[in-house]
Amino acid sequence: MTAERPPLPGWRPGDKRPDTDSMIRVDQAGEYGAVRIYCGQEAVLGPRQPAARTIARMHMQEERHLKRFDAMMAERGVRPTLLQPVWHVAGFALGAATALIGPKAAMACTAAIETEIDRHYGQQLDELGDDDPDLSATIEQFRAEEVEHRDAAIAAGAEDTFGYPILSSLIRAGCRVAIGLSKRI
Ligand SMILES: [Fe+2]
Ligand SMILES: [Fe+2]
Repeated sequence: MTAERPPLPGWRPGDKRPDTDSMIRVDQAGEYGAVRIYCGQEAVLGPRQPAARTIARMHMQEERHLKRFDAMMAERGVRPTLLQPVWHVAGFALGAATALIGPKAAMACTAAIETEIDRHYGQQLDELGDDDPDLSATIEQFRAEEVEHRDAAIAAGAEDTFGYPILSSLIRAGCRVAIGLSKRI
């Protein structure tokens, strides 16, 4: 009798492996977009707003997230999304537009985006299982920080913005579209 090894948990021959290249591509695009949003908000609000310190801290973390995905792309030979120039402009514009409405709208933008990113990173972790521990550990750590950003934005009054439910659902819808496009293009 041949000793058969038990199959890997959660994976059977013929099952599709998660497309980690596409995951890294969309994550790098998202972190890039996040950096651009904060650039736009900082350009409008300037350093003296009370919100400026919160924004500067989140901005720094997004730079760190972006660097990590940039490095992963280089290590694994993953190409960036072709939409990078679009996110360069759209991210900055979204940040500047929300900051022009006011500091609380800037926070509403972060709360909306991070709600979607939390969901997105959660889905990726489910899909990955134990296939790629290096990528999973990175996503897990960043996800925790994005949730902190969301909570900090809500604590800073995001939900007090006039028209918050509409603004929030518009930004969340835009974020989902951006995620969908960056996975494919
Ligand atoms: Fe991030
Ligand atoms: Fe974030």
